[in-house]
Amino acid sequence: MGKLKRDRYEDLLEPMERELVAMARWVVTAGARVVVLFEGRDTAGKGGVIKTISRYLNPRMCRIVALGKPDERERGQWYFQRYVEHLPTAGEIVLFDRSWYNRAGVEKVMGFASDEQVQSFLSQAPQFERQLTDDGVILLKYWLACDQEKQEERFEERLNDPLKRWKLSPMDLAAREKYREYTRAREAMLAATHTPHAPWTIVDFNDQKRGRLTLVRDLLDRLPHEYVEPAVIEMDKLGAKPAREE
Ligand code: ADP
Ligand code: AMP
Ligand code: MLT
Repeated sequence: MGKLKRDRYEDLLEPMERELVAMARWVVTAGARVVVLFEGRDTAGKGGVIKTISRYLNPRMCRIVALGKPDERERGQWYFQRYVEHLPTAGEIVLFDRSWYNRAGVEKVMGFASDEQVQSFLSQAPQFERQLTDDGVILLKYWLACDQEKQEERFEERLNDPLKRWKLSPMDLAAREKYREYTRAREAMLAATHTPHAPWTIVDFNDQKRGRLTLVRDLLDRLPHEYVEPAVIEMDKLGAKPAREE
């Protein structure tokens, strides 16, 4: 299957963009709380799909959370604490670009967390998520899959493109060396945290455009939304044209 062409991609995306806007109206009227988290290897395309989803939504109701490495203070807290602060209230969608799953991925592979901390995370994450879903939070977890050959290709692209070079971090260079360790970490993570109340959805992101379309379609299908009429602004209610400044 070849890469999806841009025109075709845009034609397929357009109706879903409208559905996204309608979904957001539903979230607001229903007072739903939605958490979507995006995980995947470096270069998988988390940033791109998050942009696609958020582009048409009101930033007041759709927030993106991409936390950096924990500071001294945060390292002293309960592991989930700094994520909890960003959870949505009624009528909000929060998109997590990486999430508490850092502990099972980068922190494990790079040795930022001890084996014991990782084990305890793997047993606590389902309980933590259970509390969210029991309270009515809609939680969607996506794993963006991309294979090694693709990852290499994208690292190369980033090195050679000055507009993309900022995306390369020392962490990424280390991740290149540790492809297999990341595979093992992912297996352990999925085995421990793919639960009935908070299942993972794995989406093939070897072709990013196809991946985005698949993920957005899945997201829309999973959210229980009914069509909510947009507020109509009638022209005659706008009143007279404002006086022009001289
Ligand atoms: P990204 O790929 O998200 O642009 P990086 O590749 O630089 O960012 O880092 C990957 C992840 O590893 C980030 O979520 C970052 O917060 C985390 N990270 C980096 N250093 C540490 C650290 N010392 N302890 C814990 N997490 C870290
Ligand atoms: P109501 O509380 O029935 O007036 O619903 C307000 C809005 O929320 C309606 O426009 C519905 O579209 C939406 N809504 C509420 N609950 C659900 C649900 N379980 N599934 C789908 N849509 C819902
Ligand atoms: C992306 O947004 O393309 C990546 O998933 C982020 C990264 O390289 O870590």
